[in-house]
Amino acid sequence: MIQLPRMPYRVNLASLPTPLRKLSRISREIGGPDIWLKSDDMTGSLLSGNKVRKLEFLLADALSKGADTIITCGGIQSNHCRATALACAQLGLRCELLLREGDFPRPSGIGQSKAEGNLFLDAMAGANIHIYPKDDYVRHQLQLFREVEGKLKAEGARPYSIPTGGSNGIGVWGYLHGGLELQQDCNSAGFVPDTVICASGSGGTQAGLTLAQYFAVPAKKSRVLGFAVCDNSEWFNRKVARDVAQWGEHAGLDESDRAALAGALQISTIDDYIGPGYAKPYPQMLAMIRQLAALEGVVLDPVYTGKAFYGMVSEIRKGRFADMQNLVFVHTGGSFGLYPYARELLDTE
Ligand SMILES: Cc1ncc(COP(=O)(O)O)c(C=O)c1O
Repeated sequence: MIQLPRMPYRVNLASLPTPLRKLSRISREIGGPDIWLKSDDMTGSLLSGNKVRKLEFLLADALSKGADTIITCGGIQSNHCRATALACAQLGLRCELLLREGDFPRPSGIGQSKAEGNLFLDAMAGANIHIYPKDDYVRHQLQLFREVEGKLKAEGARPYSIPTGGSNGIGVWGYLHGGLELQQDCNSAGFVPDTVICASGSGGTQAGLTLAQYFAVPAKKSRVLGFAVCDNSEWFNRKVARDVAQWGEHAGLDESDRAALAGALQISTIDDYIGPGYAKPYPQMLAMIRQLAALEGVVLDPVYTGKAFYGMVSEIRKGRFADMQNLVFVHTGGSFGLYPYARELLDTE
């Protein structure tokens, strides 16, 4: 068994610990194990959601390397980009966002009437926003990073690049830390979760939670299950393994420990609830979001948490968790991505 390595320095951005509570009414309504909610949507008000935990470590690394400008990327309504833009403003760093057009219901831009949700907040936080057509972004992402980096360096800036979703070996510390916090919450509430569930978009949250389970103290180990919102489960299983391997290097594990860890980790992803595609909603999932909001006062988003929660409920109904008592759903945030879908959510006729 590998010892838990010492956590590196992190900047304090998130309000922690986030609350854990039982969703009694929806659990009763569905009739399966008790569903608990770990509210990582409450890591802050605007600077909120799962990305803040990763940014605590990523931005600490950037600052330790003397960076003064952060470059990152994502979809036009990226929660990660919004959190990065706000965190940079909080720390006095410049922020450059490379955003991908498309996917979302309405056309976007930075003009007053078009910027909404996360994009609006990116602009408010003073980020320098570059918007690319989807094809260019997908095909030339590395080149786009290099161009922006090159331009900044020529101006005398010291840029630091963060990959999609903040998911790499450093970002993984965020959910190792978050997963250990969750274990303490569950201990205090008097149970060990059978399964911990999250939405997976770039894999870093799932990677950190899976790693935290490996280092869990109780003899009974929980499983971690990621619900994919874009690529298939093979892609996520590989990506989670890669993020963990990178984390192992960053944590200073030697080769044999890294190999032992890779062999011991249980990585599980379900990709049956993506629907028509990334950021494309479907009626049953939207109905689930409405039901949960009205029954528990918990608002999910249609891109990430709505699909994962709907997936979890569907799997409960199919009997996947029949022998289990407690599931924990990690609410990873995303509420600003809700606004572009107001029509889809409320105009149900
Ligand atoms: C609200 C929300 N939930 C879940 C995820 C998925 O997290 P990860 O990218 O770590 O897989 C993201 C980002 O991709 C997100 O913005």
